[in-house]
Amino acid sequence: MARTRRPFFCGNWKLNGSIAESLALATEVRNGVSTVRDVDVAVAPSFTALHAVAKRLEDGPVAVAAQDCFWEDKGAYTGEVAPAQLVDVGCKYVIVGHSERRQLLGELDAAVNLKARAALKAGLTPIICVGETLAERDSGETLGRVQAQVDAALADMAEADLSRVVIAYEPVWAIGTGRNATPAQAEEVHRFIRSRVAARSAGVAAQMRILYGGSVKADNIRVLMAEENVDGGLVGGASLSAESFVRLVKEGASV
Ligand code: 13P
Repeated sequence: MARTRRPFFCGNWKLNGSIAESLALATEVRNGVSTVRDVDVAVAPSFTALHAVAKRLEDGPVAVAAQDCFWEDKGAYTGEVAPAQLVDVGCKYVIVGHSERRQLLGELDAAVNLKARAALKAGLTPIICVGETLAERDSGETLGRVQAQVDAALADMAEADLSRVVIAYEPVWAIGTGRNATPAQAEEVHRFIRSRVAARSAGVAAQMRILYGGSVKADNIRVLMAEENVDGGLVGGASLSAESFVRLVKEGASV
């Protein structure tokens, strides 16, 4: 069956890397994926390396994502970074609502919505992360939790904006644990997410890319990508080595 949605793989480097290390990794990724067709690839370095990496990757096949943004354009918000500033340094995407921010920094659904809408207004594509904890999965609350996160994140978005959104399903128990969701577990939630988006717009839902994240590697991406509603990956640990990320992109794009 031909894919209806272009696969997308984004490396989330989290809190890792000097400018020099980030440049070296970005350059290797760019060189490694340059021959891969019909795929979108992005890397998300730390704020401190964004400008240098974006310059290095300019006009190439790999786009740059930030790992977070604020929702205001400017003002007395010490330590925050505005979406327009991310555009200014060369970002195309921004990750919002990552579970590490939700869990460690108390980020709430309402803030994720504000960030996603501010990103869209500035011309960025938000990659909105959702996912349940192990306790929520074990008590049968997975779909309820994901529904609440998706509905809140997409609230008050016009259809034209909604059509630019990417969602990443990242079960918290699968992040950095080496224990990834089975393809069937991922597909169940991805299908559910698409149905929530379809309640807003069937057309948007059909073309929205929904990425899976959580211990994704080159040797497990193929079975995940074989699922109808898995359109790519948001990759942590395996994106910190160019060799493993490039292999993952090649494997994932060829399914
Ligand atoms: P790992 O791939 O290291 O499990 O991290 C996933 C993630 O959080 C990507 O945003």
